[in-house]
Amino acid sequence: MLKKCLFPVAGYGTRFLPATKAMPKEMLPVVNKPLVQYGVEEALAAGLHEICFVTGRGKRAIHDHFDISYELEHQIAGSDKESYLVGIRDIIQQGRFASTRQLEVKGLGHAILTGELLVGNEPFGVILADDLCLNDGPGVMSQLMEVYRRTGSTVVAIEEVPEQEVSKFGIVVGEEEEPGLYRVTDMVEKPQAGQAPSNLAIIGRYILSPSIFELLRHTPPGKNGEIQLTDALLMLARTSRVLAYKFEGRRFDCGSVGGFVEATNFVYQHVYQRGCDA
Ligand code: G1P
Repeated sequence: MLKKCLFPVAGYGTRFLPATKAMPKEMLPVVNKPLVQYGVEEALAAGLHEICFVTGRGKRAIHDHFDISYELEHQIAGSDKESYLVGIRDIIQQGRFASTRQLEVKGLGHAILTGELLVGNEPFGVILADDLCLNDGPGVMSQLMEVYRRTGSTVVAIEEVPEQEVSKFGIVVGEEEEPGLYRVTDMVEKPQAGQAPSNLAIIGRYILSPSIFELLRHTPPGKNGEIQLTDALLMLARTSRVLAYKFEGRRFDCGSVGGFVEATNFVYQHVYQRGCDA
């Protein structure tokens, strides 16, 4: 069964400058937790305990976050403040962490291919931490795992988006095999508004077969001159079954300032305060 989850975290986060000048965008806190921690929690909850980061320059804070901070721990040992570290200590114990560097930022497909060194020849999950996904029931990666368990197929999470937003996403066309589960017949990365073949958008959650690596090696630069995972997935869909699953829960686009603020308000009202009341 799957063990590994890949986190491409090499992006610059230009939309958040100057906040992201010296700090990785994945460390921006949504209330009191960095974005990347939400993603890692989702992976662990889905049983993916080997966390693989594809990082770049200036991402050291991510490594430090998933490591013990001796000085801090020593300082607050025995005080009430220690309770704030329970969650992250638990994560560090449950997970195993590895990383490799993407030397140049050349697209999501290139980032995934860089992760081959860590993943090897086995199926694996992918989480894009910018897409913060929350659900009262199982997380989105757990939902994808359930689909994978039943089908053994590569699967991507999708949601319907308004017509004017299609150009921000990979868009999927498929035949609905059961309610909410589509067999992919076509895919296009960030089509222009008005030219999208559907409004089913790929969200940053995937379970991929390792055959994707060979396809990525032969994927020419696509949208914006970058190696696109969507293009490689389309090649895969032509020779084997690729599924798209409409997940349950809410997604926040934390790569945009508006989505980040929306997520912060939501987490503060529905998650953080509930935790404080408990
Ligand atoms: C990436 C993918 C895109 C997907 C999106 C989800 O784009 O290339 O297919 O729909 O993530 O967030 P990015 O937002 O990294 O440009």
